[in-house]
Amino acid sequence: MRLLVTGGCGFIGSNFIRMVLRDRPDAVVCNMDNLSYAGNLANLAHVERDYPGRYFFERADIADADQARGVMRRHRIEALVNFAAESHVDRSIEDASPFVRSNVLGVVVLLRAALEAKLGRFVQVSTDEVYGSLPLEAQYAAFTEDSPLTPNSPYSASKASADLFCRAFFKTHGLPLVITRCSNNYGPCQFPEKLIPFMFFRATRDEPLPVYGDGLNVRDWIHVEDHCRGVLMALEKGRAGAVYNFGGGAQRSNLYVVREILKFCGKDESLIRPVKDRPGHDRRYAVDYSLAAAELGFSPGFGFEEGLRRTLAWYRENPDWVDGATSGSYLGDMRKRYGE
Ligand code: NAD
Ligand code: DAU
Repeated sequence: MRLLVTGGCGFIGSNFIRMVLRDRPDAVVCNMDNLSYAGNLANLAHVERDYPGRYFFERADIADADQARGVMRRHRIEALVNFAAESHVDRSIEDASPFVRSNVLGVVVLLRAALEAKLGRFVQVSTDEVYGSLPLEAQYAAFTEDSPLTPNSPYSASKASADLFCRAFFKTHGLPLVITRCSNNYGPCQFPEKLIPFMFFRATRDEPLPVYGDGLNVRDWIHVEDHCRGVLMALEKGRAGAVYNFGGGAQRSNLYVVREILKFCGKDESLIRPVKDRPGHDRRYAVDYSLAAAELGFSPGFGFEEGLRRTLAWYRENPDWVDGATSGSYLGDMRKRYGE
């Protein structure tokens, strides 16, 4: 299989590429990424050396039709998995425009190019956030693939829009595509604006940990390797036109997660700082992945506490990666945001 992975220099895409190269010896992977602030070449250090002739990198923008077509043609692409996106909710609140460009226009450009190139499979990596928010009370059932799309942030609105375009390209043009909707990922190589690495790096430096609102918002955590296995199953076995939810079966409040991080670091809870809530902050996510279990054989392998411990240990053991990811303009942005 000659596979195009878009957004492969990001957190999940880079873990996915490593998995495919390791577990599918016949696969050739082209990674197309425009190296936005979240794209990090260090996430794929050594893959060209470790998998000679099986990995190629193209710096290109999914919203640029000529670039997208050119990459598909040059690499004789047969299937595509799209991870490329602006992915951070807080940034979408500050400025929605890049989200429209990459997450909506970019996906439509890829769909059009995939049709022209007659790809055999297109996987759109979406998110559980398109379903909106659940109340905290457990009697409200988890999201299924039939739950209505009620996005609350500009980020989730852009992802829901892309999902609707994917549906339309399947119905109208018969493009053989699958949509996946996963809950919150954690694991190695996550950009440090997201809750777990963000709190870990701050705790290690004895910096205050800004917890939004009352800290009781709940996320359904899944290890990135479990998500990537699910995406690979959807690529290889998914029914054309289907949507598959993936979740970790691990609903935890933000305060719980932050306390676990502090325990791992041997730091005191006095570092926790309640701050103003995120506008439009979704209260709870919980994902019903029984369709993916029945049709694809998916189930998450990691327990949350063990997965978290291994993830934090990975960050501790990879100081060069951490220095690269937490220096430069990113750190400047964060210092400004918290008035430091
Ligand atoms: P990330 O921000 O770490 O990585 C995104 C990557 O896409 C970066 O390498 C960036 O350079 C690239 N990119 C952005 N715009 C691009 C463009 N126009 N052209 C080419 N490349 C571009 O994101 P992530 O956390 O790895 O998420 C990957 C995908 O998975 C996203 O689509 C996101 O919506 C989805 N998702 C994420 C999570 C999560 O918990 N992180 C959960 C469910 C779904
Ligand atoms: O559910 C899947 C989604 O998970 C993905 O689609 C998104 O790309 C990904 O960013 C993630 O979205 P969240 O908004 O849930 O993730 P984030 O890490 O930004 O925040 C997780 C929770 O922690 C959320 O309730 C907000 C809270 N939070 C976050 C930060 C960065 C804080 O309390 N303080 C913080 O400083």
